[in-house]
Amino acid sequence: MTDMTVYAQRRARLASLMGRGVAVIPTAPERVRNRDAHYPYRYDSYFYYLTGFDEPEAVLVLIAGESPHSILLCRDKDPEREAWDGYRHGPAAARERFGVDEAYSVRELDTLGPKWLADQPALFFAVCADPAWDARVLGWLNGVRGQSRAGVAAPSEIRDVREALDEMRLVKGAEELAIMRRAADISGGAHIRAMQAVRPGRWEHEIEAELLHEFRRHGAQAPAYTPIVAGGAHACVLHYVANNGLLKGGDCLLIDAGCELDGYASDITRTLPVGGRFNAAQRDVYEMVLAAQAAAMGEIRPGQAWDAPHQAAVQVIAQGLIDLGLLRGTRDGIIESGDYKRFYMHRTGHWLGLDVHDVGEYKVGGQWRDLVPGMVLTVEPGCYIAPAADVPEAFWNIGIRIEDDVVVTPAAHEVLTHHAPKRVSDIEALMRDG
Ligand code: GLY
Ligand code: MN
Ligand code: MN
Repeated sequence: MTDMTVYAQRRARLASLMGRGVAVIPTAPERVRNRDAHYPYRYDSYFYYLTGFDEPEAVLVLIAGESPHSILLCRDKDPEREAWDGYRHGPAAARERFGVDEAYSVRELDTLGPKWLADQPALFFAVCADPAWDARVLGWLNGVRGQSRAGVAAPSEIRDVREALDEMRLVKGAEELAIMRRAADISGGAHIRAMQAVRPGRWEHEIEAELLHEFRRHGAQAPAYTPIVAGGAHACVLHYVANNGLLKGGDCLLIDAGCELDGYASDITRTLPVGGRFNAAQRDVYEMVLAAQAAAMGEIRPGQAWDAPHQAAVQVIAQGLIDLGLLRGTRDGIIESGDYKRFYMHRTGHWLGLDVHDVGEYKVGGQWRDLVPGMVLTVEPGCYIAPAADVPEAFWNIGIRIEDDVVVTPAAHEVLTHHAPKRVSDIEALMRDG
């Protein structure tokens, strides 16, 4: 568990970015899956980033100004419910443990909310994130406006609190990177375990089970997203999650899986030969994607534009598609026309953090933003070849992606997911010895 002072520092930073006003930041609701069964609970990433508090039915109120202070609203102690569902801090213990200035029962929220908004210049809130919260907070505002004849002023400005928070979350601190390194190690180990378990005649879901087993046994709370375990043609379905196919010798298997550890995502893709050795066509495509990834990585350093790694990957893939006979024309011509997108239709990465597709603008003032130390991004070029008359049959249904997680450092970058092998010879050796 991260030291609570980290959360206090984040709240102080947010308060200073706000200037004056009140922020209202609720956590995520519990969600029913069916009848009495709930989806596994996952707190809201913004709320957790500022509190470290993982119970549902909680709200952070942050009052910025001359004497900033933070207020946590949470569930009351309830011995009977706790006997069924587990421990609840209750406001008193929560205040103590999480280092907030004040804590109250969440049942008091609608009474206290309008009081905190009174005479404040601005309300900071995740506008339109959840219609029920929009209505609730607007109700408080109306309550305050109703007191205008008593000389109470309502905030005249509503600002999106995510603007400041997204910028904060985009650049990770040392304590976040320590968790992300560990998450990446666990996920790397899971990919190794999966590679050792793959053989013809096994099922995709059996390999998924190996991944999940490795995540949990190392303390990761959950997968960061639904794993993709896609044999053969399934690899060409970008968001394939059925994971119910039989693995066949001669096919490739694409595995996109990463754990979530203490709130932080990892995101790794590896592609391997089910039978233990790539055939010539698979190897050619694989080496092209690996070279594209290396080219993209080569662009990751402070001061480079966000888009530079993608452009570098596209250049390699465009030339590779020509060299493999899959496209005709010149490299620049097929980049210009976008013809390469038939085989490489997604971008080369995204921010990574508390959310697998993490927050943070990719452009600032209409320009791709520059990389700075502490940003974490994925680098995940791929190539997906659907059967077609103009494509040699040897390439049909090959779907390859190679994905790593990278943090920008002052010198250039650090690959967090170095643990999972990706050279052809290393993968084949691991599968042989598996
Ligand atoms: N696993 C989600 C992604 O690669 O973006
Ligand atoms: Mn990704
Ligand atoms: Mn992925």
